[in-house]
Amino acid sequence: MPEKRVEKPKTLVLGVSGGIACYKAVELVRLLVRAGFGVQVVMTREAMEFVTPLTFQTISGRPVATETFSLTQESEIGHINLADQADAIIIAPATANIIGKIASGIADDLLTTVLMATRAPVLIAPSMNTHMYENPILQENLRKLARLGYHIMEPAEGYLACGYEGKGRLPEPEDIVERIHGLLKKKDLASEQLLITAGPNHEPLDPVRFIANRSSGKMGYALARQGLRRGAQVTLISGPTALAPPAGARLIPVQTAAEMRQAILKEFPKATAVLMAAAVADYRPEKFVPRKIKRGTAALTLQLRPNPDILRELGARKNGQFLVGFAAETEALVINAKKKLREKKLDLIVANDVTQEGSGFDADTNAATLLDRTGAVRRLPLMSKGELADRIYDHLLALKKK
Ligand code: PMT
Repeated sequence: MPEKRVEKPKTLVLGVSGGIACYKAVELVRLLVRAGFGVQVVMTREAMEFVTPLTFQTISGRPVATETFSLTQESEIGHINLADQADAIIIAPATANIIGKIASGIADDLLTTVLMATRAPVLIAPSMNTHMYENPILQENLRKLARLGYHIMEPAEGYLACGYEGKGRLPEPEDIVERIHGLLKKKDLASEQLLITAGPNHEPLDPVRFIANRSSGKMGYALARQGLRRGAQVTLISGPTALAPPAGARLIPVQTAAEMRQAILKEFPKATAVLMAAAVADYRPEKFVPRKIKRGTAALTLQLRPNPDILRELGARKNGQFLVGFAAETEALVINAKKKLREKKLDLIVANDVTQEGSGFDADTNAATLLDRTGAVRRLPLMSKGELADRIYDHLLALKKK
């Protein structure tokens, strides 16, 4: 079983105001519950015209709060209780009306009263018709709220339920979840400019074939996501993967090891730390055949040339950057990792035994041993790649303090 650090589950209050995107808030609750949050939904009267409280109650597993002056709701849930319990409050969808009310200090229903009473961070996810969104009054209200410390998401662009095309769609529930994670994390990487590599390389052989490896990119993308949540600036240099880059990362897509090297060397001087989770191709075909190689009956021999070792090059050039390498090993894990740590002049190496079930290539989990320049060796149990990314950052910060 992957290890999980036991943390008190966070409580979120989700305020749902009355817009057609209310149905997407149901999916948002599902994702939040799945991510381990306790979700208390508060609905405005207008929201109940679109979706019933029963729907939210079923998905959140908690009674939905709708009334300020209901004796049962006030004694069981209570508006001050809601305001105090919340680790964060999210308004999704946030209509022009609710945004106007918050900005004007109006507290005339349960949701606006809770917002008035809370000290928790508040995230507003607007959703409305494009012209309403562009209205200078709404824009002025959003600016005022941002000045006051409210967190505002940009609506997405696209086809709107009112028939218009443009800005005004509720941001995707996955993106809202990501913002919430970011809101709740300590920003202990805020001074870091992370350069992260992920995925495999494709080394072309002819126009339709390439040599590659089994890296999915999940480890590197998890490092990028957790780094962003902890406040870092992230540049993600990625080989071809099927993954969506985490919102907020600067993505530089590459194919070959040579392209990856070129991108890394360009970005290296700006970085404070480099995390090389990519499975860089060690070899490339000696020559690229410009036409599709025809099938034949004789054996075909491929000549391969070694690619430069990018991390070794960074170790030789480093000028204050903290270097984290990965070692994918099938034998003598610690011995081989120690050798790479020393030879590539790394500060930290994450050694994964890629023969272990659920560890290494393509898995959602990883079991790693962290070895650092001080000689410390820390064996970690199987855990999600997100959790491992956090452990790597904890180790990096502790080592930087020494
Ligand atoms: O992408 P996933 O499916 O999530 O899988 C994650 C992973 C198993 C790919 C990842 O955890 C990992 O171990 N990445 C490094 C894989 C690897 O190439 O290991 P290596 O032991 O061959 O290389 C050692 C280090 O040197 C690595 O940091 C590598 O990025 C770097 N290297 C390797 C070769 C090369 N030519 N240049 C390099 O910079």
